Amino acid sequence: KTEMIKIDRDDMDLREMKRAGEILKKGGLVAFPTETVYGLGGDALDETAAHRIYEAKGRPSDNPLIIHIADMEHLDKIVEEVPEAAHKLAEAFWPGPLTMIMNKSDAVPHGTTGGLDTLAIRMPSDPIALELIRQGGGYVAAPSANTSGRPSPTTAQHVYEDLQGKIPMILDGGAVTIGLESTIVDLTEEIPTILRPGYISLEMVQAVLGEAKMDKGLISSDSNIHPKAPGMKYRHYAPKADLKIVEGPVEKVVAYINEKAKAGKVGIICTEETKDRYPAGDVKCIGSRKSELSIASHLFAVLREFDEDGVDAIYSESFQAPGLGEAIMNRLLKAAGHQRVDVSDRI
Ligand code: TXA
Ligand code: MG
Repeated sequence: KTEMIKIDRDDMDLREMKRAGEILKKGGLVAFPTETVYGLGGDALDETAAHRIYEAKGRPSDNPLIIHIADMEHLDKIVEEVPEAAHKLAEAFWPGPLTMIMNKSDAVPHGTTGGLDTLAIRMPSDPIALELIRQGGGYVAAPSANTSGRPSPTTAQHVYEDLQGKIPMILDGGAVTIGLESTIVDLTEEIPTILRPGYISLEMVQAVLGEAKMDKGLISSDSNIHPKAPGMKYRHYAPKADLKIVEGPVEKVVAYINEKAKAGKVGIICTEETKDRYPAGDVKCIGSRKSELSIASHLFAVLREFDEDGVDAIYSESFQAPGLGEAIMNRLLKAAGHQRVDVSDRI
């Protein structure tokens, strides 16, 4: 049985938070909110907890977990050495939606890192996450709390859908604020490299470090160049229906999608600016183009809703880099298995 416990982040029930911490200390699992997505936490220094996480998610065990900490002093124990760049980025963005890859120390079992000698570390900003980490012993390994392959959970209800009966406790802190997983920056490369785009953009990292680049495997259309983060190579977030992203001038995009929506049960992902221009189909507005955050925070929930509605096909408007648009398109393209339709040349 899975307990769902409501936590008010402005007035936390410390008895419940202690109870959650005890579960972690005994090697058990607790799902919890972060500012990005919900995480499925276990003690990062306990290999059996890592095994339980992989089993609950149905995740391949070569896909490493992110270790969450709540206090800077805890960093030294788990890494070989803290690079200068990590100090600068932590100063600028922690606690917050940035994960850094460094060389691990012997304190961290290979079971947590998918066999790698490097380690992903993040200090989340959600007070519920920080309290849980402290109550649980300081080091919480947590992937997103979804079944492997499904969209990441942005509400406690999503976690419940995927993991009920498989974990003892879910801390319910309501809907998350960002809705896309953290930016991952690899500091073991000569030039700091972004392995997964997120709320913290390449430009923001460059502004702090002077130099940083995108992983070639993320931006290349050559299928022989693979992304470096093991998790980025798996098909992800895939809704049950076939999803295509439609690109081009807005007039043509709207016309193309409307033509497709004439037959069958068609899902449409659109924005505040265009939502009244789709007369047919299962139309879902994910946010306003004036606020990329509104789009990011609803994307995964909308993909899940289409699964419930049981549509035959989904067409989505497209979004632009730089900034958060880069992360939105990265997730959308993965969900679509990289299927895009360019309608610029249609008359
Ligand atoms: O926002 C987030 O980061 C959320 C919340 C819960 O903190 N967590 C999350 O974890 O998204 P997960 O496990 O779903 O994604 C972790 C990603 C995977 O793509 C994994 O391959 C990559 O991080 N990763 C972990 N350790 C790595 C390492 N040592 N080297 C390269 N990539 C690594
Ligand atoms: Mg994930």
